[in-house]
Amino acid sequence: MNNQNIFNEIREKIDIVDLIGEYVPLVQKGRNFFGVCPFHNDTNPSMSVSREKQIYKCFSCGASGNIFTFVRDYEHMDMKDVLELLAAKVGITISNNSVSRKTTKYDKLYEIYELANKFYQNNINTKDGQKAKEYLKNRGITEDIIKEFEIGLSLDNMDSLTKVLTKKGYDLYTLDKIGLSSNNHDLFINRIMVPIHDINGKTVAFSGRVYNKQSDHKYVNTKETEIFKKGHLLFNYYRCKEEARRNKYVIIMEGYMDVFRAFSIGAKNVVAIMGTALTEEQTNLIKKLSNNVYLCLDGDDPGQKATLSVGEQLEKVGINLKVIRLTNDEDPDTYILKYGKDKFYDLIDKAISFSDFKLESLKKGVNFNSDLELSHYIDSVIRETSLINDEIRREIILKKLALETNLSYNTLEKRLSGYLDKKRPRDIIIEEKKVNNKLSMYDKAVYGMIYAIIINKKYLKLFQEESLYFINQKPRYLLTEIEYYYKKYGNIEIADFYTYLIDKKELLDLYNNIISYMDNNNITDEAVNDFIKVIKSYNVKQEIKRLNELMEKETDDLEKSKIANQIRLLRIGE
Ligand code: CTP
Ligand code: MN
Repeated sequence: MNNQNIFNEIREKIDIVDLIGEYVPLVQKGRNFFGVCPFHNDTNPSMSVSREKQIYKCFSCGASGNIFTFVRDYEHMDMKDVLELLAAKVGITISNNSVSRKTTKYDKLYEIYELANKFYQNNINTKDGQKAKEYLKNRGITEDIIKEFEIGLSLDNMDSLTKVLTKKGYDLYTLDKIGLSSNNHDLFINRIMVPIHDINGKTVAFSGRVYNKQSDHKYVNTKETEIFKKGHLLFNYYRCKEEARRNKYVIIMEGYMDVFRAFSIGAKNVVAIMGTALTEEQTNLIKKLSNNVYLCLDGDDPGQKATLSVGEQLEKVGINLKVIRLTNDEDPDTYILKYGKDKFYDLIDKAISFSDFKLESLKKGVNFNSDLELSHYIDSVIRETSLINDEIRREIILKKLALETNLSYNTLEKRLSGYLDKKRPRDIIIEEKKVNNKLSMYDKAVYGMIYAIIINKKYLKLFQEESLYFINQKPRYLLTEIEYYYKKYGNIEIADFYTYLIDKKELLDLYNNIISYMDNNNITDEAVNDFIKVIKSYNVKQEIKRLNELMEKETDDLEKSKIANQIRLLRIGE
């Protein structure tokens, strides 16, 4: 059995509505199911999933595909792993040689990191590691945590890792480039090593913490490299994926220590932003983990400021956000250590909504005796309140504000109404398909024709009988693939053809555009005849254009008149 057959067999056994439903809540409307598309920033349900066709389409970003492309793009996995994962779901085992894994130019870099990781982990278990172990033990980091997070140790000399790696044949230039050595020297010396994994779980960087010395730098981190872009990952993301889905929420913390500590009480649905602002990529990663997020950053001032800015980012993409509050001198690590598991879960239960958090922080430091500050405060509270989609809550907030400021409820209410009017109603209408607008008549006919050919073989025959062809390369190649598939498998399922094209990126993109643009119901014999007419006349026009150019260059009069005659005949036919 070849790959395509395996793909098709698995595809038939897994219902796409069930599968996508595990990742994204879906609601049935008519024949299709709708949910929020995970492939672009959105809060509207612009992705539709068809049980009939076993495909999904997003009307906003234009993504479409089958179960395999969904899991691949959602999980950022390669196809080989997706195939294995979904095969296992239906009890099919994939033999090793039936699908080959793609090698990438980064394989060598991952390999080096894997070796470095092993080396550091080994060190901590030797005599050299005793002090580090002691330090961790004193902080309550158990052996289990050390193993789970692959915590290691860089040795107290200048070049032990560089030596190990050059002995294995890796060149100094590469070791420099990926941030492990510099000028024949190790970059990490005598630190507790925390490996950082990418979203697929590959080690791509380290963070080294001081433990037995004074140092200006608590952490030394790997520089950005080809395989490590700090803003594209979150600490503990790959371990958290399953856990977040199972728990239906994810907790965001600041540092490694917080994550280790949370893990130690069984809270495994935790990621750390590693003490920085949140990038757009990270925001999207979090949204993929869960739409329900608890922010649990440090209780100090910077932590609270970060809560505001990180929260704003997450709110923008429609995440359901709550804030876990710690007192000024605590972070999740120290809190859990001091008060234990149950108290921490109590805090989760008592988490407040992000809008409440914002309202609270607006009040901080306001001098109520200053008219200017007071009116500024009132205005910002009302503006914030206008964003809340709950009338009762709005009223409660205004009543509190009236008491607090000694103003009349009516005055505040009037101001609020002003903001509410300005606020545009939330746009819940699904955006017009983007591809649609940009297409010319001819493109539409090409899309329609190819779609017709895919859903019914008789249109392929018709196309061939008319001796039609596509002038542009991509549709022509796509048609060749379609013909080949028909010859080999007899019949095309829209969903299966995605997997068939998976390694042909340009054709897959074209196919994707066609599928997201077209709908079953516009294919009739009549419609197909219209497509044919448009394509024919376009081809004739292009041919005339070509002949005209030829004629202009022609010097021989007889040849010239021959070409003119050809053009005339084409014009009559047209
Ligand atoms: N961080 C960093 N470099 C620093 C300080 C902090 O990369 N010099 C990042 C790390 O990812 C760290 C996070 O910011 O985990 C939070 O910082 P902090 O709270 O100071 O560190 P903890 O990991 O909590 O470590 P510890 O409790 O041991 O101080
Ligand atoms: Mn900390």
